[in-house]
This record gives sequence, C-alpha cells and structure tokens, in this order.
Amino acid sequence: MPTVYLLNGPNLNMLGRREPEIYGRTTLAEIEASCREAARRLGLELVFRQSNHEGELVSWIQEACERADALILNPAAFTHTSVALMDAIAIFPGPVIELHLSNIHRREPWRHHSYVSLKATGIICGFGADGYVLALEAAARMIARRGEKPSGGS
Ligand code: DQA
Repeated sequence: MPTVYLLNGPNLNMLGRREPEIYGRTTLAEIEASCREAARRLGLELVFRQSNHEGELVSWIQEACERADALILNPAAFTHTSVALMDAIAIFPGPVIELHLSNIHRREPWRHHSYVSLKATGIICGFGADGYVLALEAAARMIARRGEKPSGGS
C-alpha cells in the first residue's frame, strides 16, 4: 500500500480554539479522523503527525524520504520563515503538497511568501479542514499516475 506522510506544524494542535474565525472549529483530532477515513477509501497508508518544533519536522521529512510515496505538509508559521523545511522537502523524491486551512494570499502581506512553495509540487489553501481530504485525493492521483508516460506530442 502506498504511504503518505501528512505533517502539521506549530499551533495546529490548538485547532478548534485557535482563531476559529480564520481556522474554523474543527479540531486536529477530527481532521485526523476524516483523513484516516479518506486514506482507507483511497487505499493509502497514512502517517499523520503534528509538531511545534522545526527540527522535529525536518527529521520527519527526512524519515518520509525513506518511507513515503507522497508528502503533505501544513508548515503553519514555518511556511513563511523556514529555509530548513524548504531544503528538507527539496530532498523528497516524490510529490509534495503544501497545505493551508486559510487562503494565505488574502491575509497579511507577509503570509504571501512561502519558502515551502519554492519546492512544493502543488498548493492547496483556503478550503479549511476539507483541504486535508483534497490533499490526500491529490496525493493518491499523483501516486497512481507515477510512471505513466506524459500524453501528447508525436
Ligand atoms: C496556516 C497559515 C499560516 O500562515 C499560519 O501561520 C498557520 C496556519 C493555515 O493552515 O492556514 O499557522 O498554515
């Protein structure tokens, strides 16, 4: 079964009571439960984790390099600051999906820049908790297409 690592950065353990007008009222435990259900439906093995520590996230991304077919990352505030996370995902050999609950592009200007976007395959943002399931669906599609020849051309 293909394996997907879904990693969450700082303060996402506070979802539910963290600025609910921006991030909604769904807790991270509830998000994890819907991700587990989606992973079962999509035939994916899911590793779902959260850390408030940049170095721990870097170590988990390095672990994913050995074990995962796709990586989904909500880097939270580290999105906007972390060269270390950007460098770590640059090593990951498969698809990397950057994920945010909020649409970072309609928020404060300093949230518009993401170091992670510079190396991510694609970005899902602004769909709240639903974005997590959308990201898993995107990962499943990319894994299924692995090895397919690009269509078109002569
Ligand atoms: C976030 C957006 C970031 O700007 C913020 O620092 C977060 C959460 C999101 O999911 O919308 O912590 O990544």
